[in-house]
Amino acid sequence: MYGMVNEGIRTFIENNFGGDAWISICGDADIDMTQFDRLGNYDDAVTYSLVGAIAKHTELPPDKVLKVFGEYWVDYAGQSGFANLLKLSGKNFVERVHNLDDMHERILLTMPNLKPPSFELEEVGENTYDLSYYSTRPGLGSMVIGLLHGLAEQTGEEITVEQTQERSDQSDPDVFRIVLES
Ligand code: HEM
Repeated sequence: MYGMVNEGIRTFIENNFGGDAWISICGDADIDMTQFDRLGNYDDAVTYSLVGAIAKHTELPPDKVLKVFGEYWVDYAGQSGFANLLKLSGKNFVERVHNLDDMHERILLTMPNLKPPSFELEEVGENTYDLSYYSTRPGLGSMVIGLLHGLAEQTGEEITVEQTQERSDQSDPDVFRIVLES
């Protein structure tokens, strides 16, 4: 995973729990660094270990940690110079979700080793959508729920999200039911 993700985790922890908490979390995660090169490549195990150590430190389940971090990520990525990319990807929540694959494709220009997720959005009723999430990585479904909430916050829309299917392998998606509240 790109160092930018681990840096996002670091700033999230430092802002909410302080620098000492971050040092102690890195120790628990058994990693020998406390800062990351945003454009460097790190083993995914580093990110998963950090999430586990944060869960232990905050006494929150790992899924909740991923969800809260996902929500934070949209703002963080925006402050990291990618705000325009997100804005230009659509004028409302649904357009932006439709264009998530294109948006990550554009990020590939600056981050050529990106292993981006892939999404398919299907309208299944009035203001109701099913979103399929494909990834090379397991266990990140809860982060997607947080990311979607972060995305909706940016366009001033309100959504409810519920996971309706869990993937069993890479070719099989996690599926979310999204309802746009008006
Ligand atoms: C401007 C905003 C965004 C930027 C700059 C960004 C960038 C990135 C980066 C750098 C990664 C790490 C991938 C890697 O290192 O291989 C990533 C992963 C991911 N992104 Fe985005 N992202 C943004 C917004 C979003 C949004 C709104 C979603 C909504 C669902 C999303 C979904 C994901 C997911 C689920 C992953 C995990 C990777 C995986 O499944 O394998 N991203 N993104």
